[in-house]
Amino acid sequence: MSEKTKTMLFVCTGNTCRSPMAAVLAQDYVERRQADLRILSAGISAFPNAPASPQAREIMLELGLDLSAHRAHFLTEELWQAVDLILTMTQGQKKYIEELFSQAQSEKQDKKVYLLKEYVLGAEKKEEANLDILDPFGQSPAIYRACATELSHYVPQAVERFWREVFALPIALGADHGGFKLKEEIKNWLEEKNYKYQDYGTFSPESCDYPDLALAVAEAVASGECTKGIIICGTGIGVSIVANKVPGIRAALCHDTFSAKASREHNDANILTLGERVIGRGLALEIVETWLGASFRGGRHQRRVDKIKALEAKED
Ligand code: RB5
Repeated sequence: MSEKTKTMLFVCTGNTCRSPMAAVLAQDYVERRQADLRILSAGISAFPNAPASPQAREIMLELGLDLSAHRAHFLTEELWQAVDLILTMTQGQKKYIEELFSQAQSEKQDKKVYLLKEYVLGAEKKEEANLDILDPFGQSPAIYRACATELSHYVPQAVERFWREVFALPIALGADHGGFKLKEEIKNWLEEKNYKYQDYGTFSPESCDYPDLALAVAEAVASGECTKGIIICGTGIGVSIVANKVPGIRAALCHDTFSAKASREHNDANILTLGERVIGRGLALEIVETWLGASFRGGRHQRRVDKIKALEAKED
């Protein structure tokens, strides 16, 4: 933890099922991304020190995550003051927290409370029916599992958004002359969607060598200066070959949205490569959107990614 560390707080009712599961999933993601974030959880009517429910413990254990040390915390004003972002499971909890601390809120204007799904899906989905994550307490293992699946989908995306926003880490962009035009289109799209980016060139359609800019992007991602990277050349092949030579990089050449999603969910790809001469602008932007919106699934996929990392360690 550094002075810059920011804190995310997951809140539910009793702090024995949903919020501890969300917190342990978030913690796992934070560790894998080496994000400078502290993760906490609490309940709006928790019995202090109650352990996580046996079903929550069991289901998280299936994902390799341990909740045995968890003890419930009550959401106090002190805790509310100490955190930077609060994510609730239901609209009711969000409203309750906003009302409970409404007086303190006026003194501390930047306190943010969101419904977890709303935070991930963005403003345009706010009008949609029910965005609550329902309480599995006392219900069947199938209901717990469904809740855990929902949380594993939304929590990493929430962590990613918060991390990206608080530390303003950019997405690294690069292209040779064969991908220059598409890079400019992607830049416009990223601006529209409020993504911060860092352009590593090339800056004109003049002929240049793709290994140079592919290496610059790959190094920016591997060093942690940028969260992810997108590199474009004529085919996407050359830049992908180069980027994959940099330790820590998993570059995926994707020309369809299915592969783009899978490359994040299964391979934890941190660079997307595209071929401007292969696909059109519309599909390319859809691929970028899908890729940036998808999250690594962990679990068995983590084991496989760890084997890739072990290969790199052998080369050292
Ligand atoms: C440049 O003509 C082209 O070879 C390059 O953009 C890329 O497709 C390499 O793989």
